[in-house]
Amino acid sequence: MTQSGPTEQNLSREEAFARLSFYVEAGVSDHLADESQNRYQLEPDAAAPDAVTDEAPRRTTSRNAPSRSMGEAPPAVFRPSAPAVSALDDAAAIDIARQLAAGAATLDALREAVAGFDGCSLRKTAKNLVFEDGNRQARVMLIGEAPGSDEDIDGVPFAGEAGRLLDRMLAAIDLDRSGIYLANLLPWRPPGNRAPNPGELAMCLPFITRQIELCAPEILVLAGGLAPKQLLGIDTPLPRLRGQWKPYRASGTEIPALTMLSPQFLLDYPGQKKLAWQDLQALQARLGELGDR
Ligand code: URA
Repeated sequence: MTQSGPTEQNLSREEAFARLSFYVEAGVSDHLADESQNRYQLEPDAAAPDAVTDEAPRRTTSRNAPSRSMGEAPPAVFRPSAPAVSALDDAAAIDIARQLAAGAATLDALREAVAGFDGCSLRKTAKNLVFEDGNRQARVMLIGEAPGSDEDIDGVPFAGEAGRLLDRMLAAIDLDRSGIYLANLLPWRPPGNRAPNPGELAMCLPFITRQIELCAPEILVLAGGLAPKQLLGIDTPLPRLRGQWKPYRASGTEIPALTMLSPQFLLDYPGQKKLAWQDLQALQARLGELGDR
């Protein structure tokens, strides 16, 4: 029987690419087969030469695998490689994130640690790590929620239209990116801008808290409702919380934190800009109180 249109098996390269791009945009992050597979099950003993067939999984060479010395017999049994961190459960990934974050003594080291962290599935769908922008020595650190598509492409927080709006907001109180340090709760874009799940938030938390610790700003600005929830443990709805100063407490220090509306939100609801202006004025006043350094 001939088939007219493309089938699942018969997509052109361009069609397959377009379809995959659509899935990623739509937030598909896992490919599930119809049949479940036990990836931990050992293959039958491959010592018997005829156990190796074309279908048998092939050993891949790992750069980290200890090399065999010449003349040493190859392993008799195929064993799956140690599970990648991404295969571990959230609790294990959170634990690894904590250790990596604690071990980073500088922001450069932290950036490297985050880039090498394999436990968060968001990393697989993101184009780039979005770690920071602005001035690491700034007195103010602004923390947003998560990268969107512009940030994912550019690799910096608050890029694109939201970034341009943020720049205009900062300029209104005589600040620019040389006077502020920018980061997000999550350093990778959730596919299709979906809400991050609790596991993703929890495994990224050690990184952003260490980033705050290493930057050691005098003031924190939390843009949007998710950052105060994660960093201050406050669940108050954003409309009531914005404009309020709350202490961020960690590692024996306390940093005043102002919650404000996020530029992304203001793009969608421009009528709320007057509230953002009030928040910016509160920030400017607080900076004035701190005086010159
Ligand atoms: N862009 C970011 O980088 N973070 C936000 O929270 C919103 C837009």
